[in-house]
Amino acid sequence: MSAATLRQMTEDDLPAVMRIERSTFPFDAWSEGMLRGELADQPRTRHYIVAVAGEEIVGYAGLAAAGDQADVQTIAVSAPMQRVGVGSAMLKELLAEAVRRGATAVFLEVRADNPPAQAMYERFGFERIGLRRDYYDDGTDAVMMMRKLNSGVESANG
Ligand SMILES: CC(C)(COP(=O)(O)OP(=O)(O)OC[C@H]1O[C@@H](n2cnc3c(N)ncnc32)[C@H](O)[C@@H]1OP(=O)(O)O)[C@@H](O)C(=O)NCCC(=O)NCCS
Repeated sequence: MSAATLRQMTEDDLPAVMRIERSTFPFDAWSEGMLRGELADQPRTRHYIVAVAGEEIVGYAGLAAAGDQADVQTIAVSAPMQRVGVGSAMLKELLAEAVRRGATAVFLEVRADNPPAQAMYERFGFERIGLRRDYYDDGTDAVMMMRKLNSGVESANG
């Protein structure tokens, strides 16, 4: 993927990250404080990355890991840069980090009305394991997905 390079997220990135957060999740954006809280736990239990194209942050993603389980906390790509592989590159990196941290399974929740994201997760081998009804503030269900990991980083490739 040559459209963007990946690096660890820092607090300095939060203004740019929040712009993407508010535009990609207009109804349930995280607050800057929530993201700050996530970064406060990095690297202990969190791994947050940004995707950079030229000078610009065009996407971000975060993983939470504890014991042998990990969760995809968030992932988003700015609208003009969607569908060119940035999301896949970031998800691949989160899965690789989960393997590095010894996780054997990665979980996530995705809105039932978000087929593009579900399609990406399915391409990466995530399977539906359940439904949380009325999970989001507007009453939308959450689809719970899980992918098992093997020990090799190669196995985390999409
Ligand atoms: C979901 C998201 C992160 C995907 O990022 P992306 O960079 O656009 O994804 P990629 O270009 O790597 O695409 C990977 C695969 O996802 C699926 N996909 C992505 N966008 C899609 C769309 N609009 N429609 C259908 N499938 C889509 C496809 O299977 C795609 O592979 P393909 O392009 O070879 O067909 C991005 O669309 C986004 O930021 N959406 C808004 C925020 C969001 O919904 N985040 C997920 C919350 S759980």
